[in-house]
Amino acid sequence: MPRYLQIARQLKTAIEQGELKPGARLPSSRTWSQELGISRSTVENAYAELVAQGWLVRKGQAGTYVSGQLTPEHRTVTPAFLGGEDPVPQPFQMGLPALDLFPRELWARVMGRRLRTQSRFDLALGDVCGEAILRQAIVDYLRVSRSIECLPEQVFITSGYAASMTLALRALAAPGEGMWIEDPGFPLIRPVIEQENVKLLPVAVDQDGLDVAAGIRDYPSARFALLTPAHQSPLGVALSLSRRHQLLAWASSAQAWIIEDDYDSEFRYHGKPLPPLKSLDAPQRVIYAGSFSKSLFPALRTAWLVVPINQVDRFRQQAARMACSVPVLWQRTLADFIHEGHFWRHLKKMRQHYAQRRQWTETALRMQGFQVVPQEGGIQLVIAVKEDDVALVEEANRAGLAVQALSRWRINSVGQGGLLLSFTNISSAEMAERVAKRLRQAIGKAG
Ligand SMILES: Cc1ncc(COP(=O)(O)O)c(C=O)c1O
Repeated sequence: MPRYLQIARQLKTAIEQGELKPGARLPSSRTWSQELGISRSTVENAYAELVAQGWLVRKGQAGTYVSGQLTPEHRTVTPAFLGGEDPVPQPFQMGLPALDLFPRELWARVMGRRLRTQSRFDLALGDVCGEAILRQAIVDYLRVSRSIECLPEQVFITSGYAASMTLALRALAAPGEGMWIEDPGFPLIRPVIEQENVKLLPVAVDQDGLDVAAGIRDYPSARFALLTPAHQSPLGVALSLSRRHQLLAWASSAQAWIIEDDYDSEFRYHGKPLPPLKSLDAPQRVIYAGSFSKSLFPALRTAWLVVPINQVDRFRQQAARMACSVPVLWQRTLADFIHEGHFWRHLKKMRQHYAQRRQWTETALRMQGFQVVPQEGGIQLVIAVKEDDVALVEEANRAGLAVQALSRWRINSVGQGGLLLSFTNISSAEMAERVAKRLRQAIGKAG
């Protein structure tokens, strides 16, 4: 096949698959020819072929564009990996904040200012532990919101909870050591822990959170305890104050490390939160893990660790090998966003909206006869079911509802089945009623 036809075919495929969208501008024939080391006329011929077939249009000096009026013969098929099929967010999808309520324009303004005022020095590599200005902003935030006193050098910026875990384990763990994990608990972190050759030791959760006495009884020599004390993920209970003290006393005497995953503690709708383990950490055994995925948005890929002051050097050595992968521009934008008060305002606004969205969703689910388990805060709900929750979830997923099965979050623990779901993107009472009804239709009389 002549070269110009090969290029034409490549472009046609890209348009068909939606990689080149209607209206997209194509590179000039000069750019193509220089990049590929071919003559400009070859590229011109390829363009002419596709113009003749209606795929492309020429706009004189302005260049060549993908036609904005592709006919059905120019059927565009969006490949599955581009996610063309699944609307994001799917109803009840977990792990997402309210995407419709994030102040995107404000964010763009703050980032635009940073971008415009960059100097040449800002183009170099940033600090491997994270930008000083963001670490300071996190210190200021934690002091007020979580009563945690720490220094900026104790804060390490990472590209998410999994990266935080990897950094913590590379800094502190030796192969074969064990970690208490909550059962049921967040499943996606387990392979990350196992990858560092740390053994998972499931400890049951009850209405007071992780059963610390059971952990001490079954695995006294564990080196780590990982937990979500603010609202246990997924059951939503808080670790009681007496268990917090019991856990800290054990960690201190066993020389074990507590990893406190505080991933959505920002979202309490009433009452005063219990103090985080980190704020009670006189023995300096707590590694605190926070994330902006829920409080801002997950595509930010920004999380952090607060580590004991006497471990800073170990973490820094490890961070130097992993190097913070959050772009400097984003880190500085985030620091400005916090320092200028936008973060606080956003959290305040989101608490009000989430309280409202949760109420809409709970009410609609109850109207459909579902038994919603009462929870103190957070952005998830649990519906208790007597039936096999995995089978129900399969039905619901087939109907396009992104609920999850509680038993899939269990390891050894046995207990009631449940449907896990989030309400964050349910933006009206009508929508709540609609999706609750769809859930009822999908799973029949169950639950
Ligand atoms: C239990 C738990 N911890 C932490 C996180 C935060 O993860 P990341 O910062 O990677 O988004 C999540 C997110 O869904 C979570 O569910």
